[in-house]
Amino acid sequence: MKIAILGNGGREHAIADQLSKSPKLNKLYCLPGNAGTELIAENVKLDIYDFNKLGKFVDEYKIDLVIVGPEKPLVDGVVDFLTNKGIKVFGPNKISSQLEGSKIFTKKICEKYKIPTAQFGVFNSVKDAHKYLEKSNKPIVVKADGLAAGKGVYICVDTESAKNAVVEIFNGKFGTANQVLIEEFMQGEEMSYFVISDGKTFRKFNTAQDHKRVGEGDKGKNTGGMGAYSPSGLINKELDLKIIETVIKPTFEAIKDMDETYKGFLYVGLMIRDNNPYLVEYNVRMGDPECQTILPLLDTDLLELMLSCCEGNLKNQPINWRDKKSMCIVLCSNGYPDTYKKNIEIPNLDKITSNNNTLIYHAGTEMIDNKVYATGGRVLNFVSISDDLKKSRESVIHEIENLNWENGFYRKDIGFRIIDK
Ligand code: AMP
Ligand code: GLY
Repeated sequence: MKIAILGNGGREHAIADQLSKSPKLNKLYCLPGNAGTELIAENVKLDIYDFNKLGKFVDEYKIDLVIVGPEKPLVDGVVDFLTNKGIKVFGPNKISSQLEGSKIFTKKICEKYKIPTAQFGVFNSVKDAHKYLEKSNKPIVVKADGLAAGKGVYICVDTESAKNAVVEIFNGKFGTANQVLIEEFMQGEEMSYFVISDGKTFRKFNTAQDHKRVGEGDKGKNTGGMGAYSPSGLINKELDLKIIETVIKPTFEAIKDMDETYKGFLYVGLMIRDNNPYLVEYNVRMGDPECQTILPLLDTDLLELMLSCCEGNLKNQPINWRDKKSMCIVLCSNGYPDTYKKNIEIPNLDKITSNNNTLIYHAGTEMIDNKVYATGGRVLNFVSISDDLKKSRESVIHEIENLNWENGFYRKDIGFRIIDK
């Protein structure tokens, strides 16, 4: 089969790595890919947001299946566009992608289907939002409705900062806004729970925990994710059942009630308190870096699995996992998530070990004349698989120290909540 993956992050490199092991694969394209995918696939420089160009590429190269990595093309309707052309796509359609594309859409589903989540209010004006904030408890969470690349969420400790957040959102910091979402602040520990769905049934696709803050001890600014481990230390049978029954099943029921079907991965971001799940957010794709830590544990052909979703045959498809633990630490460019230098060479990558249990997935990198250059904030994902998260972390840190890239930094404490307590 000829396959195209849309995206250029660590998530897409991890997907490409899994697909390249499948006997069903003949040719893999990454649009646009990175220096890592270039070693196992053909990178094609193409603007994936220009659907007409994408459609032309898919026709010309006779692509059998398109896999969508990031959220933006999904929310923009790339699946509907390609499906209308008769092309097989792995990912949810435009309406189902509203689960990530509109936080208010999701909160309304939670309300109607009694899904446990933070109490919330939706406000149409600065004045109404401010009035509400004056009498609400703090901390409080103010959110922009649409996609904001992880930046549209403000955790506010006092009324003044919450009021400022409302003003910034209505002023269009994250695009035109007619509404703002204000939520109760939930205490607890976060967990990322994944499922895969073919539109008829869904199956669990492992758990993970990521660290979004830039600094050790989960301090400092939010980032795309500084590291993750899998499985989450919080999961147990009872909690698993509650998540499925009280959160996931009613969500798919809501999609069905809209006469829609959901195909693809669903990322369920949860707050866990007293072994009870509360929905924080949905993402309509794999997480990044959660994907880089989960996929190496998969002991089933990912391509077979994705095809079974496209064909509505997931029910009969085995999904096996290695009985191991996995950790991913992200090496970032100095200065991230603020400003950082671009196009800095990363030498010595060929000296880093890579095998079944030690992997490197590229993120913001590009290959020029056989040399690897950092082009993004998050640059490389180092992954280690073992029986023990502490061992995995030591092994990852050893590899990063070996690379000794002077323009980079990383967090040494990924997994601290379960390893170091
Ligand atoms: P989101 O983009 O909705 O995932 O929000 C980003 C992060 O903000 C989440 O991963 C949580 O850490 C935090 N967050 C969002 N909503 C809440 C909430 N209601 N209570 C506590 N923390 C929250
Ligand atoms: N790791 C968080 C995300 O993918 O949005």
